[in-house]
Amino acid sequence: MKIPLFLHLLGVVIWVGGMFFAYMVLRPTAAQLLEPPLRLKLWHGVFSRFFPWVFLSVGLILASGLYMIMQMGGFMAVRLYIHLMFALGLVMMLIFIYVFFSTFKKLNYHITREEWSSAGIVLGQIRLLIGINLILGMVTITVAVLGGST
Ligand code: HEM
Repeated sequence: MKIPLFLHLLGVVIWVGGMFFAYMVLRPTAAQLLEPPLRLKLWHGVFSRFFPWVFLSVGLILASGLYMIMQMGGFMAVRLYIHLMFALGLVMMLIFIYVFFSTFKKLNYHITREEWSSAGIVLGQIRLLIGINLILGMVTITVAVLGGST
């Protein structure tokens, strides 16, 4: 199961690592240096490039994770930490899908019309949801690694 685990972890690194960089590094720097119009356009460009990678990561994580569960004998045979990882992963994926199909679309709408204050409110919502997903990602990694070692 080396290759499925490798693909699983590759997806995790791209998704959680990307959220960490966006939230902890780019966000405070952009807030410090850029006025709202430029800052909002920057985030629009960043999300447009990052979200396709997240879709790819979600596909990799889900496919490799389910494949490994089948190799382990199916859902009834695996330990609690894997059920927890699956549940947390699904919540993260639902949050991402909501961000992509709802909030990100609203951000595009307001930026196209140069409605900076509305776009700023939507960006705040995306920031909150990505912050929640970042925490969930850290918790999931903890559950996956520590749960498997006990
Ligand atoms: C949503 C569907 C997911 C499924 C079905 C799934 C399933 C699995 C399975 C079966 C393993 C192998 C466990 C073992 O060999 O003991 C695994 C490993 C792992 N998963 Fe997931 N996973 C999912 C999502 C996630 C997410 C969202 C993360 C992190 C954000 C994550 C992080 C990890 C890590 C770090 C490992 C390696 C654990 C180790 O080898 O110590 N998984 N996953």
